[in-house]
Amino acid sequence: MHILIFGASGHVGSGLAQHLSADHRITGIVRSQPEAKTPYTPVVVPEWVERPQTVVDELGRVGTPPVDAVIAAVGGWYVDISMIARGVDSFDADYGSYLRGHFAACAVSEALAEAGGSDRIRHLTLNGVASVEPCAGSGAISVFGAAQEMLLRVAAEETDSVHYRELKVMAPIAGDDRNDLSGGVETIGLTTVAEAVIDIVSRPEDHELSTQLNV
Ligand SMILES: NC(=O)c1ccc[n+]([C@@H]2O[C@H](COP(=O)([O-])OP(=O)(O)OC[C@H]3O[C@@H](n4cnc5c(N)ncnc54)[C@H](OP(=O)(O)O)[C@@H]3O)[C@@H](O)[C@H]2O)c1
Repeated sequence: MHILIFGASGHVGSGLAQHLSADHRITGIVRSQPEAKTPYTPVVVPEWVERPQTVVDELGRVGTPPVDAVIAAVGGWYVDISMIARGVDSFDADYGSYLRGHFAACAVSEALAEAGGSDRIRHLTLNGVASVEPCAGSGAISVFGAAQEMLLRVAAEETDSVHYRELKVMAPIAGDDRNDLSGGVETIGLTTVAEAVIDIVSRPEDHELSTQLNV
């Protein structure tokens, strides 16, 4: 498959690219040119969130094969003071890096489907445990993570050309230093996440819109 990853420079995106690149062609849409070698082919589209059509245009310009699947690993993570105390500017910023990016990734999948060239596009979004459990210190991520599932449900209702799916990883993903692992918190390895991702995008018909991956 030719798989497009948004958030390819992030912890999950780059880890997935590393695991999937042996068997699949991986293109990472990035906002700036990576400085080091990457496990994906970077395609720089600085304004992909504001102008999703530019992704389709740029892929056409560089001449990549049709896209089969889109993975949105956009977001971020922190543990801080309470959501309300962080203030509305911080809330806006989290909306920007979370829900707004996922909205734009959906818009790219719709634009790719419209441009044609492949069967129905498979769109998989990564989400976390914070989207189902209110996470003190990462509150806005809980709010926008919960909204992320409804974003997909609405998008799925409104299209026949994209398979929208979500993978909720219900524990910290191994190797991310931002996670607080004190008290023996169990993690999920990137290999396990990559296997679940490829299972869903290979056979979307066999999966509900939202799947939870537990430890
Ligand atoms: N890390 C975990 O332990 C964990 C656990 C469960 C689920 N997840 C899920 O995995 C997904 C990715 O998490 P992660 O830990 O890999 O995050 P990350 O390392 O912080 O990476 C986030 C990526 O999102 C992109 N991004 C951030 N703000 C953006 C914006 N305003 N516009 C466009 N792109 C933006 C960044 O791209 P640039 O390089 O262009 O800035 C970066 O590549 C999230 O949905 C999260 O819920 C993560």
